[in-house]
Amino acid sequence: MAENNGKKPSGPGARTRGASKKLWGGRFEGQTNASVERFTASIHFDRALARFDLRGSTAHTRMLASVGLLSAEDERALVEGLAEIAAQIESGAFPFDPALEDIHMNVESRLREIVGVDIAGRLHTGRSRNDQVATDLALYLRDASEAAERGILELRGILIERAAEHLDTVLPGYTHLQRAQPVRLAHHWLAFVEMFGRDASRQQSLRSRLSDCPLGSGALAGSTLPLDRQHTAAALGFDAPAANSMDAVASRDGALEFLAAAAICMIQLSRLAEELVLWSTAEFGFVELADSYATGSSLMPQKKNPDVPELVRAKSGRAIGNLVALLTVMKGLPLTYNRDMQEDKEPIFDSAGTLRDSLEVMGGAIQTLRVDTERMAAAADDAMLLATDLAEALVVAGVPFREAHGAVGRIVGHCIDKELDLRSLSREDLQAFHTAFSAPAAEIASLESALEGRNLIGGTARGTVEEALSKAREDNTRRLGELSDGENR
Ligand code: ARG
Repeated sequence: MAENNGKKPSGPGARTRGASKKLWGGRFEGQTNASVERFTASIHFDRALARFDLRGSTAHTRMLASVGLLSAEDERALVEGLAEIAAQIESGAFPFDPALEDIHMNVESRLREIVGVDIAGRLHTGRSRNDQVATDLALYLRDASEAAERGILELRGILIERAAEHLDTVLPGYTHLQRAQPVRLAHHWLAFVEMFGRDASRQQSLRSRLSDCPLGSGALAGSTLPLDRQHTAAALGFDAPAANSMDAVASRDGALEFLAAAAICMIQLSRLAEELVLWSTAEFGFVELADSYATGSSLMPQKKNPDVPELVRAKSGRAIGNLVALLTVMKGLPLTYNRDMQEDKEPIFDSAGTLRDSLEVMGGAIQTLRVDTERMAAAADDAMLLATDLAEALVVAGVPFREAHGAVGRIVGHCIDKELDLRSLSREDLQAFHTAFSAPAAEIASLESALEGRNLIGGTARGTVEEALSKAREDNTRRLGELSDGENR
């Protein structure tokens, strides 16, 4: 389009190259529209990256000095300036400015005030916000993932100790939410210990794919300057420089993995939460939440509501949403960096916070939970839970399982019709259904035999569960120990 018939426009958009106040404003003549400024700004959320951005800039500064692109004096001034900014952010005194778009520009702009335009102007040597933000994000994700892993292991530790208290607490195990077979409460909770063990492994494993340092990739193609990428990578705790500059600025699969691992863990938490909700109903009456982990009703004085597990259950939805949001942002994006990718941050921050908080409150709720062992025992004292064991007794006597299943099914129907306890049937009663029965029902199957008979690896016999418990305890202690060792490295 011909620009105003060749005449320079006047008024608020008056054009003089370099008139823009932006740090990138050299080629611009006009100012940014205020709504565009608001729309494109990310400082209200990416300030969460400040700590990592400053670490990245400090490492970059030192590297620039090490290859002679920065004098020792300028290096000192920049490092001190960055430290001052870190202190201001820490104390809440840092003046975040939305007109400066994002955390990177906010830091650089403040640095100009502290160390002067000339020295501050050297910080961005050989760097783009594209490799900078990818580096910040990798550092953030590594940190968040380690915190998530620790949170998961801590909740797991609480479950292990509560399980240890309830080796001899028996309740019905359920399938389809129908009473199925008796289990030890320890066995039930150790199921979650296994699930959370895998969640912790997922976190650990995804960090191994966040081990390449993007810094030095520039905007997308690398740099003509003699940067020492090994130096920056090592200073920031990465294993190596990213092997491909385009991949380094374009990829967010590490972020997606974190969101996926967080979503999966939230789903596991939602199932534990659902059981607390269900079990604390009058209908189940298996557990009671401590007052400190329950809430009341503003209208009904008698109510004690399980809001904490309900919210954990609900927040798993946010975690799924965050994963789907970023998957959708990334789908079909051409290489390399696109501004779309700025939308990665809020889902990541939200999932990290949601997971952290959910793990913490669930840990507290489990730790303080009152268990009604008698209600559980009463529910487990249901003869129908022994039906499988009667069928398996026939199998031991040589009967094909399907045939045994059919015979016991008819016995169950008979007991329902006649309102009989399965355990009251004599040998003769049983033989009317299958001649291979050789003892009264009460001798073939009992709560005790149902539990103790299941002594294969993974079963609910006391000795088996005890062994699983001590393995889990050992495993959890070792993993927590390895995490803190890693931190001190
Ligand atoms: N705030 C941006 C983001 O989070 C930083 C990178 C901007 N790079 C750019 N070339 N505009 O993605």
